[in-house]
Amino acid sequence: HIETSLRPKLLDEYIGQQKAKDNIKVFIQAAKFREEPLDHVLFYGPPGLGKTTLANIIGHEMGVNIKVTSGPAIEKPGDMAAILNNLQENDILFIDEIHRLNRQVEEVMYPAMEDYVIDILVGKGPSARSIRLDLPKFTLIGATTRMGLLSSPLRDRFGVIHKLEFYNNDELTEIVNRSAKVLEVEIDNQGAKEIARRSRGTPRLANRLLKRVRDFAQVKYDGIITLEVAQYALDLLDVDASGLDKNDIKILKTMIEKYNGGPVGLDTIAATIGEESDTIEEVYEPYLMQLGFINRTPRGRMVTPYCYKHLGYVVKEE
Ligand code: ADE
Repeated sequence: HIETSLRPKLLDEYIGQQKAKDNIKVFIQAAKFREEPLDHVLFYGPPGLGKTTLANIIGHEMGVNIKVTSGPAIEKPGDMAAILNNLQENDILFIDEIHRLNRQVEEVMYPAMEDYVIDILVGKGPSARSIRLDLPKFTLIGATTRMGLLSSPLRDRFGVIHKLEFYNNDELTEIVNRSAKVLEVEIDNQGAKEIARRSRGTPRLANRLLKRVRDFAQVKYDGIITLEVAQYALDLLDVDASGLDKNDIKILKTMIEKYNGGPVGLDTIAATIGEESDTIEEVYEPYLMQLGFINRTPRGRMVTPYCYKHLGYVVKEE
């Protein structure tokens, strides 16, 4: 599967997130030296920045199995108990969207994370009692786009917490060049830079755009991705020069034209454009804030003068 093969398997192949990489390298070495599982790791940050990829890399580097699941997929405490009980010594359990675990399931995790045990309730009524079951030692890797929604007891049980940052243009260019090599498509440096620049700091998007630009290169041009091909294709794909797509523009224009640039509440914006509040908060807003296009204030979101200029509006009077 191509999507998977674009993902680096080793830490040294992984581009960017230098701080996270440096730290993880040390923790892996230390855990291996002590022949212990790695301490529990939590990755947070916007989607597409490499949380899952890093979890898989840690599995590879530690030489252990990784079992992948997600918060909403585990409905009952018994489901979680079964997953934990089936792990092998030192395995990794990766839980994506870990902020969406329900309360009862989360409570199973506390003793499991701290002491590698679970308490199971057997029987009903007055004869019901709790049995303590030993688990294999394991590493929990959690990923979330919404750190604020994670309960503090759960958060406090992670030994390592890393925020993933947006990638800069040089890092994304390197990723696009690496992916082009894997996909066996020829690309020049200006073409790679152009795709990188329009990928909103996000490798997942850079790789997706690379594949689409490749389609145009092969059908409309001679198969080589140059600046001209990249610009032509990305314009047709409605990705503007800063990587903004139609939804970003819709959010910003709505805020400017209907709400005078704000402050306006997230739910109001969401209702006006017919999008989920969560999607705006997790997917669109982080990059718009990174660009300096919107600010969060106690009274709501505001469009910045810089954004007015970028979109060709006359800057609002203060
Ligand atoms: N593909 C997706 N993300 C990547 C990264 N951070 N480094 C290298 N290749 C990638």
